[in-house]
Amino acid sequence: MVTADVARAAECLAAGGLVAIPTETVYGLGADAGNEAAVARVYAAKGRPAGHPVIVHIAAAAELAHWAAHIHHVAATLADACWPGPLTLLLRRAPGVSDTVTGGRDTVGLRVPAHPLTLELMTRSGRAIAAPSANRFGRVSPTTAAHVLADLGDRLDPATDVILDGGPCPVGVESTIVDCTTEPPQLLRPGGISAEDVERLIDADLAAGDGPVRAAGMLATHYAPRARVELVEDAATAERRVADLLLTGPRALVLDGGDDLVAAARQLYSRLRAADDDGADVIVAVLPPARGLGHAIRDRLAKAASR
Ligand code: TXA
Ligand code: MG
Repeated sequence: MVTADVARAAECLAAGGLVAIPTETVYGLGADAGNEAAVARVYAAKGRPAGHPVIVHIAAAAELAHWAAHIHHVAATLADACWPGPLTLLLRRAPGVSDTVTGGRDTVGLRVPAHPLTLELMTRSGRAIAAPSANRFGRVSPTTAAHVLADLGDRLDPATDVILDGGPCPVGVESTIVDCTTEPPQLLRPGGISAEDVERLIDADLAAGDGPVRAAGMLATHYAPRARVELVEDAATAERRVADLLLTGPRALVLDGGDDLVAAARQLYSRLRAADDDGADVIVAVLPPARGLGHAIRDRLAKAASR
């Protein structure tokens, strides 16, 4: 089921199968965005409730016009500057876009992912790919093909579905989501491109996100490992807390991404998974500074801790 063969993945997509796709952020569980039945299978495989919109991945910004009714100048600027890359733009949907993709909303989320295999897959098949992250609903997102196999292997059909192995995801946290239908545009999820960078590009301040109503990724149950997660502000506090916990019984460990925010983001999810695999009861996570990629890491850790 795991393959690096793009031609095979393209056949699978065309036949209405599921293809787990590598992106620069995390792996997605994809289907032909124009095939409603195939997109419905994505929901079923993830155990994701209906009514949650999925991102449509496109091969190039030129395809925006097919999916979006109106391309706001802010969206055009951001697409031009950031794609391919870890930025999802919310735009008014074009008339033909299905409710299965948009969760019945009048907006559609679009992005061009920066991964050569997935770009080739879309170009070769001539299809856009609707894909949420390729984890079971509420769990930590996968950053390797092995993670996808571990989470969803038993829910995929080896006869019709494939996991396209493009190696480990270099960014490691999901895309930044900007709603371009509001004035000013609104940050719905911090991610792989910092809000500071987005604001610089559009020469305006983003409005802060307003939570669960707008994006399901904001639900508290998302991004959660099995172990309980506690948050602390510095490494010394983390060491003390783990020592205390170990005295009273629970298996506790420190998760500290260190000063290199790029490396910390890249390794965040595999470290949370490794802690689960080690049988940890408690993960004491050191929060990174609230700047750049640090915002996305803090957001995911806060969600992991709020379970
Ligand atoms: O980096 C990423 O964004 C990854 C890779 C695979 O592209 N995808 C990802 O998908 O994280 P997902 O489904 O796990 O998170 C997408 C978030 C969800 O919270 C969803 O509710 C929100 O985007 N979203 C997508 N389309 C939307 C729309 N039309 N309106 C509001 N929220 C939307
Ligand atoms: Mg997700």
